[in-house]
Amino acid sequence: MINFANEVAKILKEKLTDLELTEIEGMLEIPQDSKMGDYAFPCFKLAKTLRKAPPLIARDIADAIRENSLFEKVEQVNAYVNMFINREVFIKDIISEVNEKKTEFGKTNIGNGTPVVVEFSSPNIAKPFHIGHIRSTVIGNSINLLWDAMGYKVIRINHLGDYGTQFGKMIVAFRHWGNEEDVKREPIKTLLGYYTRFHEEVETNPALDDEARETFAKLEQGEAEEVRLWQWFRDESLKEFTKVYDLLGISYDSYAGESFYSDKMPQVVQELRDKHLLVESQGAEIVDLEPYGLTPAPILKSDGSTLYITRDLACAKYRKETYNFYKNIYVVASQQNLHFQQFKKIFELMGYEWAKDIVHVPFGLVSLEEGTMSTRAGRVVFLEDVLNRAIEETGKIIKEKGVATDNIEETARQVGVGAVVFNELSNNRIKDYVFKWDKVLDFNGETGPYVQYTYARCASILRNAGEEVMAKLDAVEIDPKYLTGEASYELAKDIYALPKVIIEAGERYEPSILTRHIVDIAQAFNKFYHDEHILVEDENEKLAKLALVVAAKTAIKNGLRLLGMETPERM
Ligand code: ARG
Repeated sequence: MINFANEVAKILKEKLTDLELTEIEGMLEIPQDSKMGDYAFPCFKLAKTLRKAPPLIARDIADAIRENSLFEKVEQVNAYVNMFINREVFIKDIISEVNEKKTEFGKTNIGNGTPVVVEFSSPNIAKPFHIGHIRSTVIGNSINLLWDAMGYKVIRINHLGDYGTQFGKMIVAFRHWGNEEDVKREPIKTLLGYYTRFHEEVETNPALDDEARETFAKLEQGEAEEVRLWQWFRDESLKEFTKVYDLLGISYDSYAGESFYSDKMPQVVQELRDKHLLVESQGAEIVDLEPYGLTPAPILKSDGSTLYITRDLACAKYRKETYNFYKNIYVVASQQNLHFQQFKKIFELMGYEWAKDIVHVPFGLVSLEEGTMSTRAGRVVFLEDVLNRAIEETGKIIKEKGVATDNIEETARQVGVGAVVFNELSNNRIKDYVFKWDKVLDFNGETGPYVQYTYARCASILRNAGEEVMAKLDAVEIDPKYLTGEASYELAKDIYALPKVIIEAGERYEPSILTRHIVDIAQAFNKFYHDEHILVEDENEKLAKLALVVAAKTAIKNGLRLLGMETPERM
């Protein structure tokens, strides 16, 4: 693919010999309004060295480069040189690029196989895996896919919350009021029920607390019966989580959660002690972070037991040793900002140069229309239920629309799940947002179904063109002169931008940048579809237009795949 910004910079460089090529390329702007050209070069900065008014400089440059065949037109407007790329050159290049690379279009290799850890989802066992968790799961999955598309070797980790005093409570509750069948049938809800019941009963029966503490101590010491129950709770819960991950098409390289680090904490605690970072405070041992404007981080409680942060310290060290990551990325709610600041600071104080490579990717809260979610108030919405409801509603909609698909169920799953995922990734991640069903499933808004529908429309046009014509498309060289109209050109430009957008979204840990761009491509396609008659009589014209449809279809598919979405051929 021609790097047009780079080519433009090279042409400018012939005139601006004093500037570096990268400098010129960095100064290039892409005007918001395409009437101002495809690229614009501002001349303000040059006024000083050239001792001339910026508009005059712009005029000189415009005159000097105007005749270059890369340009259709070059204009000077005030202090800017506005450059219009030769549309035929551009269209031809982007179409052959996409159609050559196919599923690989959009990928780059800036990572060159460098290992990157992406930790996401990380639900807690026996606490609800609710719609709030969808954020970490879906955002994290997209970040994993984006970094993969940039050529990094991504290690996907689910840091399960499978350790802690709540297991003492759960085991006690199970022994008093539980039964095996319930756990097997519906592990997450049942275990959550035990946990809630424990908290109710302890109000009138405080002895339960002691019992739970003893039970947890036994678990930590490795008593067979406690370990068996803990393991069983974990296995059953994981089975249920996996159902959700399967629906979303997500898999992991590792489920090493908090418990995995239980035997790795003593070393890191010792290291903190050796480095004189631990101080005593009311019987507990803490790292004092006050000089850095942070609250102190407790590492060991007065009874010697460890904390969430202690496990994270052991965990990050383990990851560095095991994976030698370039980045260790945590996709975790912004409520845990302090936690991540603390533990990153502690690594800095320990003298680890790689502390800077710990990246917390925070996100805001999601609430329901009737108010924020709260476990206590019973306003919990389970992710699996949300996905199933989306699938069900979508099924109804496609049936009503009379969609010609032989597999309504499969399509409903792809569209229903896609709708929830797309909705999640449409918002800037740090923003709080309200989950609204009618918005999620709207086939006409800027939604998942809208984009998937656009994709299916591309597929349908290609089917209607017929196999014979499609076979020719592979063999002939298309004539770009049929694609220089406004709608075709705008669509081609959006397709061209995809690889760059993917890098930007990845590097900023912001999938919504890609989501919005896919909406742009879909809208540009629909405008093209509306403005142009595609299956025309003239064969050369028809082939050229179909080639653009193929390119748009590929771009939408590749983009949606990086959000974690599928693309049904019929909808
Ligand atoms: N299990 C935690 C929660 O649901 C998230 C874990 C975040 N990851 C970490 N390494 N601390 O709140």
